[in-house]
Amino acid sequence: MGLKFNSVSFRSQKLPCSALPPMPSFRSPKYFMASTPPSASKEVVNLRKTQVQVTHSMPAHKMEMFKWLDSWVEDNILIHLQPVEKSWQAQDFVPDAASDGFYKQVEELRERAKEIPDDYFVVLVGDMITEEALPTYQTLLNTTDGVLDETGASPSSWAIWNRAWTAEENRHGDLLHKYLYLSGRVDMRQIEKTIQYLIGSGMDLKTENNPYLTFIYTAFQERATFISHKNTAKLAWDHGATELAKLCGFIASDEKRHEIAYTKIIQKLFEIDPDETVQAFADMMRKKITMPAHLMYDGRDENLFHHFSTVAQTLGVYTIKDYIDILEFLVDRWKVKELTGLSADGRKARDFVCELPLRLRKLEERATLRAKQAPNVPFSWISDRKLKHPMKNDLAM
Ligand SMILES: [Fe+2]
Ligand SMILES: [Fe+2]
Repeated sequence: MGLKFNSVSFRSQKLPCSALPPMPSFRSPKYFMASTPPSASKEVVNLRKTQVQVTHSMPAHKMEMFKWLDSWVEDNILIHLQPVEKSWQAQDFVPDAASDGFYKQVEELRERAKEIPDDYFVVLVGDMITEEALPTYQTLLNTTDGVLDETGASPSSWAIWNRAWTAEENRHGDLLHKYLYLSGRVDMRQIEKTIQYLIGSGMDLKTENNPYLTFIYTAFQERATFISHKNTAKLAWDHGATELAKLCGFIASDEKRHEIAYTKIIQKLFEIDPDETVQAFADMMRKKITMPAHLMYDGRDENLFHHFSTVAQTLGVYTIKDYIDILEFLVDRWKVKELTGLSADGRKARDFVCELPLRLRKLEERATLRAKQAPNVPFSWISDRKLKHPMKNDLAM
């Protein structure tokens, strides 16, 4: 999930965070550890450095509403999960190490992987690292008021969804990890370090333990990951890497199911509490949808997320246009323009989100151009090779 550009100019123009480098206030260990090897104790100190965070912003009386919604979740949301016996597994898409044909199949996979350019691998690695930081995402759900899993095995429908969603997501990082390892095209140790750093850093989405904010974020984010994996599937197909195209496509179809579920939750909140929901929507869009891997670091590149995002933008895997399209899609899907009977703050919020896509479109062209002009940088994930043509694909716009 995630994207790009020159930090100073774009921050000042209020473009989506998905199109921005990590904000300076999101200090992850990287800012302190890049020049000198850190001691273990210094790492721990740095992990505690965060900006001021708002927590538990939902009024207490709204908790009851989420309890009341539990049976609705059972009937309307759990149906979007796939039974394990009918689910695909990572092993379905990679050579079986227990089979006689394993070595030959790996050889063929590696031959096909040779046809894929480095910029594609940078994006695929970034996507995989994002998926691998799953513990952080389960933490997000399980620190969200009214919907969390109180015991780790709670029978509430919200908790069942949280655990089963996590279990489905777990296959995504696993599958991409296996493929990348077998491809022989990337530096797995650097990638594994990045995953460890990222899980250690967490993420700061400004969702305030608030289910309105959290589910608006997840609805947006699931659609973003659907788009991203769909585009990596398409590009893999174009490069003749059929098994890679197939596995990215299966991951994308999972993300689509998740998008439908989270979008439905917000649709329900719009039905029963439109004023609070539209204000939450505006709040998240003002804060901008920060990509979940915004604190990524490989031990070397202090702007790794920005660099990865720029490649994803220029390759057309996830772009600022996608960000605006998603916003527009959600405004339509939740019929925000048609909301009536709102408070003054609610009306202000409604008008803000409805006008935002148009405002962002005016900045889109410049943002795209700036990404195309971004300098070539080496990526440790591909053994410090610089990309030859990071902005050759025009699929983005
Ligand atoms: Fe995923
Ligand atoms: Fe997902």
